[in-house]
Amino acid sequence: MTPEPDRLVDSFGRVHNNLRISVTDRCNIRCVYCMPEQVEFLPRAQLLSFEEIERFVRIAVTLGIDKVRLTGGEPLVRRDLVKLIEKLTRIPGLKDIGLTTNGMLLAPVAQALWDAGLRRINVSLDTMDAARFQQLTRRTGFEQVIEGILAAKAAGFDPVKLNAVAIRGTTEADVVPLAQFARQHRLELRFIEYMPLDAGHQWERAKVLFAAEILELLTLGIGPLRPVADQDPRAPALDYEYHDGGGRVGFIASISRPFCMSCNRLRLTSDGKLRHCLFALEETDLRALLRGGASDAAIAGAVRDCVAAKWEGHEINTARFIQPERLMHAIGG
Ligand code: 5AD
Ligand code: SF4
Repeated sequence: MTPEPDRLVDSFGRVHNNLRISVTDRCNIRCVYCMPEQVEFLPRAQLLSFEEIERFVRIAVTLGIDKVRLTGGEPLVRRDLVKLIEKLTRIPGLKDIGLTTNGMLLAPVAQALWDAGLRRINVSLDTMDAARFQQLTRRTGFEQVIEGILAAKAAGFDPVKLNAVAIRGTTEADVVPLAQFARQHRLELRFIEYMPLDAGHQWERAKVLFAAEILELLTLGIGPLRPVADQDPRAPALDYEYHDGGGRVGFIASISRPFCMSCNRLRLTSDGKLRHCLFALEETDLRALLRGGASDAAIAGAVRDCVAAKWEGHEINTARFIQPERLMHAIGG
């Protein structure tokens, strides 16, 4: 019998089993809520290699991490990402591997990702309008993303989840078209309240389109919804289903209903820094340990210390909030 792993429990009793790994800070588009137009990316030598990531995940699994999600920047711009997925699917004890992508490069690799053992995929899609896509991302490529989504569906991913960032003054017009597209193709749509991680520090509370308002737009434009029965009241996503059986819609209401008290996540940046929160102001330099000959036990100890230092939660709704210097594309969402 294998012994119970030492679990990662913080000082608020939260058990951490979920690791998000950013594999690159690079991206092929420039979403306004995430990146500046001009960015200086990290030199490649600073990125963790696949071998370093694999070693770290093996150590993390002994600490109770059983879910991993690969993010970016845009993870599919990292060469041979499929090879990393193959390495990770071979790690015993890792139950769940996911990928969050902008979909631009997805169509040609969807089948290879599936064949490598990936089963969970989230695609960012904020609009169904090609012109608005260009405003939001500062690039063209809307049709490519739609092709990517449909290719993922065809490869077997079920559900394919769609993430839409909800911004007041922008997203209102897209709520119903996005929902119609999701219903038509049986995709799971989730709206994420806009968070203060943007480059231009343009975020303000007044620019967040709240979950309750989106729900109203959906009710008016599509039809009645009800909360899905028996949801964990502390889960990040609030899920609703249409009365007519047309599927589900989720809300990540990070601002109007923070879920920090049930947070089970850690984040590894592409340059090997471990963060206990999206909004953390401090990081643990794992790359220095990985490259400095540290033992597995020393690395596990550093992870435990990072979790032990975790704060209660973000304070976006207070005057105390400080936006971290690291931007969303360099954290990984
Ligand atoms: N607020 C909310 N969500 C964001 N994302 C990126 N930046 C922000 C932000 N400022 C989302 C992306 C993607 C995921 C990785 O994070 O749309 O779905
Ligand atoms: Fe790229 Fe994702 Fe940031 Fe958009 S949100 S610029 S897709 S990293």
